[in-house]
Amino acid sequence: MKRIAMTLVLAAAAFGCSRHHPAESSKNVNPQAQQQAEALFATRCTPCHGPNGRGDGPASASLNPHPRNFHDSAWHKTVNDEHIERIIQYGGSAVGKSAAMPANPDLTEKPDVVAALRQKIRTFGTQQ
Ligand code: HEC
Repeated sequence: MKRIAMTLVLAAAAFGCSRHHPAESSKNVNPQAQQQAEALFATRCTPCHGPNGRGDGPASASLNPHPRNFHDSAWHKTVNDEHIERIIQYGGSAVGKSAAMPANPDLTEKPDVVAALRQKIRTFGTQQ
């Protein structure tokens, strides 16, 4: 009986911890959310950000400021995960950036898809 109680306490602690440190828990974004994020990126983000996040989508040419190259590792050091997740959900104007970066209000209900999108963008930063 005591052991069960202890397990519950540990489980609760682990859950609480992952809730308070989304950046750490995101290392294991669930596969379903990751799939959704891939599909979303291809349909919603690629027109401006390009299929590989280089800022070279077909709709990017006329944008000023231009979407940046997500492979720029120096930029990654200047922004935290919260910034990336905020701009994805609430758009550029919510973080003092260009309003050409649209909000995705449906994603505010899907934090793990937002985390998976953020992780995808972070991964570009680890690639040349
Ligand atoms: C209509 C074009 C457009 C679409 C569609 C779009 N973006 Fe953007 N995005 C932009 C522009 C332009 C910026 C640059 C804003 C600035 O620098 O002021 C931007 C900036 C960003 C940034 C922040 C970069 C920085 O400089 O801090 C992230 C992250 C981002 N977009 C992710 C996404 C994701 C993920 C999607 C798809 C869900 C998406 N964007 C869809 C145009 C777009």
